[in-house]
Amino acid sequence: MTAATWDVRRFTTVPSTNDWLLERAREGAPAGVVAVADHQSAGRGRMGRRWEAPPGRCLLVSVLLRPVAPVAELFTCTAAVALATSDACRLLAGVQPGVKWPNDLVIGDEKVAGVLAESDGAAPGGRPGSVAVVVGVGCNLDWQPPGATSLAAHAKAPVGRDELLEAMLGGLAERAALLDTGAGRRATLAELRGRCATLGRIVRVETAAGGAVTGVARELDGDGRLVVATAAGDVAVAAGDVAHLRPAASQAVQAAHGPDG
Ligand code: BTN
Repeated sequence: MTAATWDVRRFTTVPSTNDWLLERAREGAPAGVVAVADHQSAGRGRMGRRWEAPPGRCLLVSVLLRPVAPVAELFTCTAAVALATSDACRLLAGVQPGVKWPNDLVIGDEKVAGVLAESDGAAPGGRPGSVAVVVGVGCNLDWQPPGATSLAAHAKAPVGRDELLEAMLGGLAERAALLDTGAGRRATLAELRGRCATLGRIVRVETAAGGAVTGVARELDGDGRLVVATAAGDVAVAAGDVAHLRPAASQAVQAAHGPDG
């Protein structure tokens, strides 16, 4: 996929760019359709939460991907979009957000963007590329909800919504093409590991199943799960919310990673 293949649809207001694009995906829209809105009246976040932002103060965008990939590896779509968004922030705001597992972008420990990936639910095992993955990003331009940050708080000059979108889609074109091969997906995962702000931290994870896990965030496994070293051994978490408690003492990290780190 090249940057020229993005088909960008613009909205003044829409309930949710993810919802709009999921509908188009169910109708058979091809990879590369992008929905961007000034405002969402029913924007959605992870784990059933709302995503709210005043008009024009947040990049609100969703992209449709149709990778030729096993279902277990579709999480790399989210990673590709998170990494491309982080790169665009570095390019335009001069600050490179890290990826807080599973897919928040953070500057220090403050969230600047959230990523929500959803599938059209097409049966796994269909023809290659038949599964649609809609990945939505909300990135705070000069909107700073409580406890979060914005690009404006870190950049020397204001960052425009459209220039951020262009930079993000430019980088994502190459990254999306990588998702069609095992080697490309492994490279994406390796990059995600390198830019993951959660690894090496002492964390408390509220799991999607309703439990809690506390320990050292040790690894992202091949399925994108966060492996937490706890007093009772390693626990791999597939979905949840993470609180970064503090950096792990170097000895504890070494013990968790082994002597070679
Ligand atoms: C999160 O951090 O919980 C994820 C937030 C994702 C928000 C974006 S805004 C564009 C797209 N449309 C939505 O309804 N949600 C995503």
